[in-house]
Amino acid sequence: MIRVGINGYGTIGKRVADAVSVQDDMKIVGVTKTRPNFVSKMAAERYGLYIALPEHLDKFEKSGIDVSGDIEDLLERVDIIVDCSPAGVGAKNKALYEKYGVKAIFEGGEAHDLTKCSFNAQSNYREALKRDFVRVVSCNTTGLCRTLNAIDELAKIKEVKATMIRRATDPGDSKKGPINAIEPVLKIPSHHGPDVQTVLPHIKISTMAVKVPTTIMHLHCLTVEMENDVCVDEVIDTLENARRVILLDGADGIRSTAEIMEYARDIGRKRGDLYEIAIWRDGISIKENTLYYYQAIHQESDVIPENIDAIRSMMGEEDAEESMNKTDRSLGII
Ligand SMILES: NC(=O)c1ccc[n+]([C@@H]2O[C@H](COP(=O)([O-])OP(=O)(O)OC[C@H]3O[C@@H](n4cnc5c(N)ncnc54)[C@H](OP(=O)(O)O)[C@@H]3O)[C@@H](O)[C@H]2O)c1
Repeated sequence: MIRVGINGYGTIGKRVADAVSVQDDMKIVGVTKTRPNFVSKMAAERYGLYIALPEHLDKFEKSGIDVSGDIEDLLERVDIIVDCSPAGVGAKNKALYEKYGVKAIFEGGEAHDLTKCSFNAQSNYREALKRDFVRVVSCNTTGLCRTLNAIDELAKIKEVKATMIRRATDPGDSKKGPINAIEPVLKIPSHHGPDVQTVLPHIKISTMAVKVPTTIMHLHCLTVEMENDVCVDEVIDTLENARRVILLDGADGIRSTAEIMEYARDIGRKRGDLYEIAIWRDGISIKENTLYYYQAIHQESDVIPENIDAIRSMMGEEDAEESMNKTDRSLGII
């Protein structure tokens, strides 16, 4: 049994913990929070709660929430830690993981240089094999890697241009915005294109991004110039067979990200999550060797299966397909 700890029990940490707990080859030893609140209470009951910042011990004592120790106690009890702390905090935590000789996964808010191994299971599972430190790329980069890797195998990509329309914040967060504005990323390319190249270095890609007042998904508009002469039906066939990708139809009334999230709730996914990248089948078109498509990313959940596969790869499971099959079965991925 692989013993897993989660440092940071927020949007991503909660979901990684739930996903680990349904695997038959790994178990959750505990999760951390910095603040005592309703989430900490539930975490203490469900998984065992450790204090991320030991100097906050008195706050937890005053709250009466049952704690099992602090982050250092947790590190003594695990084989691997999944760092789901806020962007940039993971880099500061790395020295502690080194001190305890514990393997660690970082998330997409950290830079590639922190681990020198950026991970997307479908693209480079074996690159993480037996490594001590790996970064699972961000939700947007995961979405781009999944679909571009599949298209590249079919059509040999010459160049990608993509625009990311990004949700302002997550549904459970009331701190961020914008709530009534559209905010462009002025630095071109946005970080997403270079980030894809940390996983798929041979893909020529440039990206732009804008933030909009929604909480439920990101949407990507992709233009892909291809070397091979392929038709729309071949692209559809490839994407239908691609792992963790789902094709939905505007003709069925899926007009926006709202209906996609309703679909995820209707198929009974925990928290209404959609691990797959959703592509509008009837939005795919090709004009003179250039492919156009739209994809939607459920930012809270698409990276969750990747974290499970990264754990297996780092712990020495060599067979990528076997790991991904196991992960997908356990999470009910179509
Ligand atoms: N949300 C997304 O859409 C998304 C998608 C893909 C990847 N990511 C990446 O995943 C990582 C986590 O993001 P998130 O959205 O899950 O963040 P989040 O919801 O803000 O959760 C962060 C968690 O980390 C805890 N924390 C705060 N300071 C900490 C510290 N110094 N040490 C350890 N834990 C600490 C927080 O605990 P308290 O609440 O008790 O302070 C909270 O439980 C980031 O790298 C992010 O870029 C996010």
